[in-house]
Amino acid sequence: MKKIMVTGGAGFIGSHTVVELQQKGYEVFIVDNLSNSNPDVIDNIAKITGVKPVFGKVDVSEKKELFDFLKQHPGIESVIHFAASKAVGESVEKPLKYYRNNINGLINVLEAMKEFGIKNLVFSSSCTVYGQPKKLPVTENSPIQPALSPYGNTKQINEEIIHDFVAVTPSINAIALRYFNPIGAHPSSLIGELPIGVPANLIPYITQTAAGIRECLSVFGNDYDTPDGTPIRDYIDIIDLANAHIAAINRMEEGKQKGRLEFFNIGTGRGLTVLELINAFEKATGVKLNYKIVGRRAGDIEKVWADTSLANNELGWKAKVPIEETLLNAWKWQQHISK
Ligand code: UFG
Repeated sequence: MKKIMVTGGAGFIGSHTVVELQQKGYEVFIVDNLSNSNPDVIDNIAKITGVKPVFGKVDVSEKKELFDFLKQHPGIESVIHFAASKAVGESVEKPLKYYRNNINGLINVLEAMKEFGIKNLVFSSSCTVYGQPKKLPVTENSPIQPALSPYGNTKQINEEIIHDFVAVTPSINAIALRYFNPIGAHPSSLIGELPIGVPANLIPYITQTAAGIRECLSVFGNDYDTPDGTPIRDYIDIIDLANAHIAAINRMEEGKQKGRLEFFNIGTGRGLTVLELINAFEKATGVKLNYKIVGRRAGDIEKVWADTSLANNELGWKAKVPIEETLLNAWKWQQHISK
């Protein structure tokens, strides 16, 4: 069995990726400091797959903790690095927390790869690196734009750090996946997104409103240059997204890379407005959503969706799950956790 380490493996994207990895025969080693996740996730992963992943409560931004874990678990060949702070708004309030966690974390992971002979890295990047693209859909060659938040900046800096490191470290290959908007939950309703406090993102806000936890969804602006005036995003199903990581690992294992660091857009290739998404949610679930239009949210971009040709043709990966199914899974998960 191939051994793979997943940092942040108890988180939203991490946990779904661990499930897909185990189902494809990988032996998974999770490191997570549980700062934004729950230890029950590990048991729930085991309920889905029948296999309990090895788990270490490790803060990857603390080098010694990571190195101690790897000393105890030799033979790991690849790492998927999710562990990071990810709230855009909080990053503006607490920039140093973001720079410390996200930059130190990556540097420690790279040093560990060199020290312990780990060959392949998949890094979770974001379409945030493109800012508001001039041309849509956005390709991997679109210019990187100045970041709008410290969080976005850490993603850009991390891409550069990986670039510079692999250039002088021939034993290591890397793929950065630039995610669009990940949503949904596992169809089993055993794992999903667990926002702490009032959700900042659209889907958890929608499902909590539908569940009666929030009174009303605020739609941030309907005066954008889009068909109904609300912003456009490319919403990607969490299982589809998880599988993009397996495709990336396979590509490196099979030596199919063109260049030691590659970038892929991971989205559906289809943009939806906020109102279209609300309609799709109501249609998929049969639940009427209470919402109102309010003013724009500072820092929001108008529209972005992915050109996925490179991921489709090179990674051999394509988004498959229909949006209604994704939204139904998100709703089933919400009902499960609000019980
Ligand atoms: N929205 C609302 N009401 C809400 C929440 C969101 O109308 O209560 C709207 C936003 O204005 C935006 C859309 O829903 O038009 C999506 O917003 P999200 O907050 O769900 O997602 P973003 O596109 O703003 O942010 C996501 C990730 C970030 C990442 C960013 C850019 O959450 O981590 O994409 O890649 F930085």
